Amino acid sequence: KKKLVIAMDGPAGAGKSTVARLVAKKMNYTYIDTGSMYRAVAWKVLKEDKGASKTAILDVLKNIQLQLKYGNDKVLVFMDEFDITEQIRTPEVTGLVSKVAQIGEVRAKMVNLQQNMALNGGVVMDGRDICTHVLPNAEIKVFLTASIEERAMRRWKELKNKGYEIGLKELQLEIAARDKADSEREISPLIQAKDAVLIDTTNMSIHEAVDSIIKLCERA
Ligand code: C5P
Repeated sequence: KKKLVIAMDGPAGAGKSTVARLVAKKMNYTYIDTGSMYRAVAWKVLKEDKGASKTAILDVLKNIQLQLKYGNDKVLVFMDEFDITEQIRTPEVTGLVSKVAQIGEVRAKMVNLQQNMALNGGVVMDGRDICTHVLPNAEIKVFLTASIEERAMRRWKELKNKGYEIGLKELQLEIAARDKADSEREISPLIQAKDAVLIDTTNMSIHEAVDSIIKLCERA
């Protein structure tokens, strides 16, 4: 059977990575989390500690060694041979990533890597511009979203489980700010592709969202 390309976009906290990972598992495909790639660049910008001007970011980009490695059930992010999978999830990285992702040169480099990873099909790729820009010919296109209240609540629970106590309102503002930056940027902004299927998970379980995507695959 032909190996499909599944593209998924949506705002922060919509459950993309959870759903995409489960779809990939069911289909026996590779899951590619493109947000982790932009996060890795932002992480290196912070590590170099030369500020976050465009010049400083382009400097970091010049000699970047970024790799996604596939462990058991988990995607590991490596930068210059170091495993930074956990470090790219800190509030500092989250606070900087949308700024880094606005730069054309950063996007060009990441998009090139992403397109190469999808060449042979059998991938589920999620992000902000996958349906619209990175994989316009994907057989399956999904725009996964949920209300801002629901997305903030899910993040809040997730963080609480990890031991972080952060205000729900504060979290909601942070997510809204990132959505705004991602939707209003000049290059490849977050938008639902015309040919993408909208899945609103506000009142939907993870299982239901996964099932509806598997159904799309069966029909393709
Ligand atoms: O998906 P995640 O929340 O980890 O993505 C982090 C950030 O990376 C997004 O807020 C966005 O600024 C950027 N991003 C992007 N294009 C993608 C994936 C992520 O600009 N395809």
